[in-house]
Amino acid sequence: MYKIATIPGDGTGPEVTDEALKVLEAVAKKDSIEYQLTHYDFGGDRYLKTGEVLPEGAVDELSQYNAIYLGAVGHPEVAPGILEKGLLLELRFQLDQYVNLRPVTLYPGVETPLVGKGPEDIDFVVVRENTEDMYCGIGGFVRKGTADEIATQTAIYTRKGCERIIRYAFEYTRKRDNPKGKRLTLVAKTNVLTFGHDLLWRTFQDVATEYSDVEADYNHVDACCMWMVKNPEYYDVIVTTNMFGDIITDLGAMIQGGMGVAAGGNINPELGGTSMFECMGGSAPKYTGQNVINPIAAIAAMAMLLDQGGHWSSANKITEAIKVVTGTKMKSQSAGRMGYTTSEIGDLVAELVR
Ligand code: IPM
Ligand code: MN
Repeated sequence: MYKIATIPGDGTGPEVTDEALKVLEAVAKKDSIEYQLTHYDFGGDRYLKTGEVLPEGAVDELSQYNAIYLGAVGHPEVAPGILEKGLLLELRFQLDQYVNLRPVTLYPGVETPLVGKGPEDIDFVVVRENTEDMYCGIGGFVRKGTADEIATQTAIYTRKGCERIIRYAFEYTRKRDNPKGKRLTLVAKTNVLTFGHDLLWRTFQDVATEYSDVEADYNHVDACCMWMVKNPEYYDVIVTTNMFGDIITDLGAMIQGGMGVAAGGNINPELGGTSMFECMGGSAPKYTGQNVINPIAAIAAMAMLLDQGGHWSSANKITEAIKVVTGTKMKSQSAGRMGYTTSEIGDLVAELVR
């Protein structure tokens, strides 16, 4: 029995979650997967009512599930940072989801702003470290509010943290087995961040010796942004830090057709670890309740959830169905211009999966 906690969240989160669950139901029936869903109402509305983002004991409770499925968090009446920190980052940290896996895949029929590039060119995966760097919240103010104010925001890198993400990325590259060749590119800024990224670089070199079948490659982050636009076909798998990963994956989302198609997983790959899957688009308050938002990212996140749970062929069925729908049905990936409603897209994918 596969136990899944769902947090549909705010705005359009519940709408896209419904479509992902529709597709899960279809594939589970087809492949005889037994699963159990428990819904949690965490998000902006609950916070406005109760004053708390995650109630006492919630993290422990969530850690009992095989996986968490997250719709979206973000509420126009809640100050920025509260839900992000209190829910998303809290769960990533507390559940030690140290891998943020973000595939950059251009599905057939999806428009990319990169002229002349197609699905065969835009197909790589970013392995973003998810628990260290500037995200730890270490820092403070001195003489706050005065002309002499000092603020610090410390980036943390540990040998263990570097090693586990790099090892995961090498394993991932090995398994991905790209016909174009296995290449893992470390993306960092060793020419300026001469302490933290030196540790990262040395760790990368050490771990690379165990993976002679994978090309160990390096790009500075600024150059990486350039290559992602100019020659995205160069990349197979990228491993990078939390902050750089945050930034380059938004660029990645754009070249793969936008936030409506970009999915990600916050993964704790250890035995018994609880991973959390989400679409990268936010809660899109202005489209809430209109049945116009694109659920493809949410459905792709469900495929990632199944893949992480070892249901590879079911995950694959969903991905193939997505490709048919984007390639032969949808007019656009933008909300309101897809040629179908949110729920119709869900129906199309579910039908193909069956
Ligand atoms: C993401 C988001 C989060 C991040 C925010 C909402 C805290 O941008 O998942 O990429 O910075 O990691
Ligand atoms: Mn981001």
